Amino acid sequence: MKRIAVIGAQWGDEGKGKVVDFLAENKDIVVRYSGGPNAGHTVVIDGKKYVLHLIPSGILRKGTLCIMGNGMVIDPDALLKEMEDLRSLGVHVDGDNLKISESAHVIMPYHKKLDFLQEKVKGGGKIGTTLKGVGPCYSDKTARLGIRIGDLLDPAILRDKLRLSVAIKNVLIKEFFEEEGFDVNELYETALRWGETLKGYIANTTMMLNKAVRDDKSILYEGAQGTMLDVDHGTYPFVTSSNPTIGGIYTGCGVGFNAVDAVIGVVKAYTTRVGGGAFPTEQDNEIGLYMREKGGEYGATTGRPRRCGWLDLVALRYASMINGMTHIAITKLDVLDGLERIKVCVAYEIDGDVTDEFPLSYSRFERAKPIYREFEGWDRPVKGIKDRRELPVNAMKYLEYIAESTGVKLFMVSTGPSREETIFFD
Ligand code: IMP
Repeated sequence: MKRIAVIGAQWGDEGKGKVVDFLAENKDIVVRYSGGPNAGHTVVIDGKKYVLHLIPSGILRKGTLCIMGNGMVIDPDALLKEMEDLRSLGVHVDGDNLKISESAHVIMPYHKKLDFLQEKVKGGGKIGTTLKGVGPCYSDKTARLGIRIGDLLDPAILRDKLRLSVAIKNVLIKEFFEEEGFDVNELYETALRWGETLKGYIANTTMMLNKAVRDDKSILYEGAQGTMLDVDHGTYPFVTSSNPTIGGIYTGCGVGFNAVDAVIGVVKAYTTRVGGGAFPTEQDNEIGLYMREKGGEYGATTGRPRRCGWLDLVALRYASMINGMTHIAITKLDVLDGLERIKVCVAYEIDGDVTDEFPLSYSRFERAKPIYREFEGWDRPVKGIKDRRELPVNAMKYLEYIAESTGVKLFMVSTGPSREETIFFD
């Protein structure tokens, strides 16, 4: 397992930060391939909490080269703040251990404003985005109106691109939303300053990654968000605007099929979701509250309380299929400590029919009612257990059932937030 992909198998917030932090040990490169500051990866080391949004979690490991791939969307202000925050915690960040693809896209202030305005106008049907400008930035990318990181170093191209993009945005913002527009000169000056500050980090990361593959270096692909938030394969339109799934690695890094040896799907022992959208196993009751409080289920990026519910195996099997998962990492098992009964959704009932196939039609998904299999809870806490032989029998049964139903090997189980609270399986 020299080149490993770590991919969220649910709706994000699966605890990928901890899994990536582990796997980053001894890796030559850790690369983020999709998403932007909408992500929030929390890593706890020696009781100290690090929250990463844009920078790969590998930055916490000495000697690891971190790459922000071309598939990402980057808010330079947020990135510079994150660098400062990390430095204040004693983490080394400079142009030697962090490289940014010149083809990644820049989140401009008008993207953030449009994110907010579009959500406002959608009213009750809003997506519940993180308001970081991610969707409008990816829209500009596909509309071929985007500003790329490399453009920040080319004043003439930058000015031309900004003129066009700002002119179009201002019509939308002023005429449709009846809000104040943006001054192109001001944005241009800001963007030039970003280029000046970031130039030591900007690189052709596509070439760097392909050279690393040729030189047989080890690489970790750090997923952000999760499979069910994928713009193609998730619960559209209640998704993010990128491809957090396996395909996002190839397009978001510019590497070929041979650049990935193993795909580890990260899944929480239950399910959470932030923002809008259907959630068949949601427990809008005391069980959900128990999970939220015990699991600290509040967004690392927005602080929003996460919606909580039972594990959904229909969605998980689908995620396994879409990503070609080879292994599974189950996180936050300890959050289920103390529950007498634990449910797992094994199929959906949709319009009177029972199916174990994940529906691609969102309206069918909205009508899906979960069919559960029940497990007995465990008699003593799993919190902090490091050895699989110490796991209570019922906890082991639960884990084996998940792995068997998903058809992939159990790789690790997390029994608490810190690095030590982890069990490895061979
Ligand atoms: P956006 O990515 O900010 O456009 O938000 C779109 C949807 O994805 C919303 O439901 C967000 O709550 C969700 N989302 C985006 N990033 C994350 C994440 O890192 N974890 C969980 N949900 C996320």
